[in-house]
Amino acid sequence: MSLASVVPPVIMWTDKAPLIDETNGIAPDIQPGPIMNQKRTEIDINSVPDHVAIIMDGNGRWAQARGLDRSEGHVEGVNTVRRITEAASEAGVKYLTLYAFSTENWNRPQAEVDALMHLIGIAIERETPDLIRNNVRLAMIGDVERMPSEALNRLRGCIAQTAHCNGLTLNLALSYSSRWEIADAARRIAEDVKAGHLASGDIDEDTVGRYLTTASMPDPDLLIRTGGDMRVSNFLLWQIAYAEIYVTPVFWPDFTKDDFREAISGFRKRERRFGLTGEQVRQKTREQ
Ligand code: FPP
Repeated sequence: MSLASVVPPVIMWTDKAPLIDETNGIAPDIQPGPIMNQKRTEIDINSVPDHVAIIMDGNGRWAQARGLDRSEGHVEGVNTVRRITEAASEAGVKYLTLYAFSTENWNRPQAEVDALMHLIGIAIERETPDLIRNNVRLAMIGDVERMPSEALNRLRGCIAQTAHCNGLTLNLALSYSSRWEIADAARRIAEDVKAGHLASGDIDEDTVGRYLTTASMPDPDLLIRTGGDMRVSNFLLWQIAYAEIYVTPVFWPDFTKDDFREAISGFRKRERRFGLTGEQVRQKTREQ
């Protein structure tokens, strides 16, 4: 199958409504019910998450259910990437991290790996003008030196061209696994201790955070997984310590803007306790 022939054409992004309604801080495309129009209440205690991380799963099953090659699920998955990037930007999310290729994915059949790498490269190059137009900055995390140079150069080109954008940061996790990241951070911390740049007694949670690939970003507030599996698959294990988790059976190619908004609405109703009691959290909310 030639991916170039099946990659869907560029669709212009729709004109955007303002990202956040300044009067009440509620993203305008999340329909406010009567309660959401009030001052923050116990069932609407969170604002829009700053950082949403997504495990995009179900491309293969989506394709196989239609008698198609798995690669065609990935092709359709690119359309969903575009749609959800737009939805996240419209909702006022600041960081969207997508698990696009794990370290373990290198062990898939070579033809699927090659097709995915090619697809990621051409999709990113093709989307770059629209990312710029929509003020989206591209970033990537992972052991990316393992990637073929064709895809890597296209990604680096897009990162350079969108570096000035200050809206949503679209962060692609590529050749990424959390255990690789934590081991890499530990090695670099050890090197800095050995070189005298860091005292071992000063190493705390913030230190570790600064050595992770996500050092410049807040931790994810919300982790979404499509495809129904109840696991975190070596994704951002340190960073999701207090993330709210939302799993949907919907396969990634079928995941719509409304599905995304539903996940955000659900997040806003969760009580995030960060180890405190519910009463302590409610007291803090009343004081705000
Ligand atoms: C998991 O589905 C998905 C992947 C391994 C790849 C996801 C990548 C994309 C959607 C392309 C991303 C492109 C850009 C430009 C970011 P699976 O194959 O594991 O599905 P299955 O669980 O049904 O087998």
